[in-house]
Amino acid sequence: MSTAALGQVLMARLDQLGRISADDGRLNRQPFTPAHRAAIDLVRTWMHEAGMTTRVDPIGNLIGRYEGADPSAPVMMLGSHIDTVVDAGRYDGPLGILVGVAAVGALNEAGERLPFPVEVAAFCDEEGVRFSTTFLGSKAICGTLDPAVLEIRDRDGISIAQALVAFGGDPTRLAEAAYAPGSIRAFLEVHIEQGPVLEAEDRAVGIVTAIQGQSRLAVVLDGMAGHAGTVPMAHRRDALAGAAEVILFVERRCAATPDLVGTVGRIDAQPGAVNVIPGRALLTLDIRAPNDGLRSSAVEEIVQAIRRIAAARGLGCTIGREHDQPAATCAPRLQRWLAQALRAEGLPVKYLSSGAGHDTMAMAGFCPAGMLFVRCKGGISHNPLESITIDDAGTAARVVLRVLRDLADPKART
Ligand code: GLV
Ligand code: MN
Ligand code: MN
Repeated sequence: MSTAALGQVLMARLDQLGRISADDGRLNRQPFTPAHRAAIDLVRTWMHEAGMTTRVDPIGNLIGRYEGADPSAPVMMLGSHIDTVVDAGRYDGPLGILVGVAAVGALNEAGERLPFPVEVAAFCDEEGVRFSTTFLGSKAICGTLDPAVLEIRDRDGISIAQALVAFGGDPTRLAEAAYAPGSIRAFLEVHIEQGPVLEAEDRAVGIVTAIQGQSRLAVVLDGMAGHAGTVPMAHRRDALAGAAEVILFVERRCAATPDLVGTVGRIDAQPGAVNVIPGRALLTLDIRAPNDGLRSSAVEEIVQAIRRIAAARGLGCTIGREHDQPAATCAPRLQRWLAQALRAEGLPVKYLSSGAGHDTMAMAGFCPAGMLFVRCKGGISHNPLESITIDDAGTAARVVLRVLRDLADPKART
């Protein structure tokens, strides 16, 4: 199949998958929801068309398998995540799953069986929007998912364990989702870049060298709700005003350090009425840096600042550490395989790092793991304006197919 034809099929599928959402008029697909189930059902049909068998593991990952000539050989795993942010674009996550399916589909069409099995994973949760913690699916596969996180609750008070049971998963059988050490030969994730570098340099795809680390915190500030008209300013314990001070501190602290980024992405004021002083404010923090020491010291400083701000305003404060993921390096082996495939396809070899988090971070601790980035328009992501071209999608599929074929051919392997 030509690059354009591969790209066309991919884009049509990405459009179709992008319409599976919990909300009308915007893409919102959270883990363990009916939209998640519908997305699995759809992707599954394409996996079957590509000659794969499929299963949904106990944490809710969909895994398609294209059997190898030697079924016991370590698996080459492709994939990405099927969940989205709220009001998402349609490529962040699904692209990596469907490129994997397209590459396997091309093998199947050509009647090619590789010496090793190829699996395509649609991980259940990478964005971590619903539960704040993340990489539930990839960590379960690596056997590194801490069962304690199953008690984390969403905004409606539903725990991960409860959501999983309602979804048909089984939190008591997570061990069955884990692969044996050595059973995954390598993991390769294709993903939109979510930044402007490839577009600026007119490159369709690039090889990821490293992914920056991230911490997520949940902060609750408790003050005193009261009458907006009768309580003098000096007598107030306004939780939302305290939160505003925290937000500005985070912005100042992160802006002052190169490479450090910090975001308060969600804030709730309670009880949330025009004429009531907010008695409680809840906010999320997302702090990232390529250097783990830099990130940890910034998080410590921000935590101290939150306590200071709360104390000065007479507010109670609870700070939960929801997620800490060290920075990850992409395996040199994967970078080499990708560079060889790019050259063979007549493409320039471009290396870049990732500011966004990816399941590859979790996989990198378990098996050689790497990523291929695909150019996206304006570097825009986590936004419905996310956009890629048919040709670039097709190019990514061609590169992955080339990697698979090279791996099957000892003469071609570097
Ligand atoms: C996921 O896209 C993240 O980096 O938060
Ligand atoms: Mn993503
Ligand atoms: Mn994302």
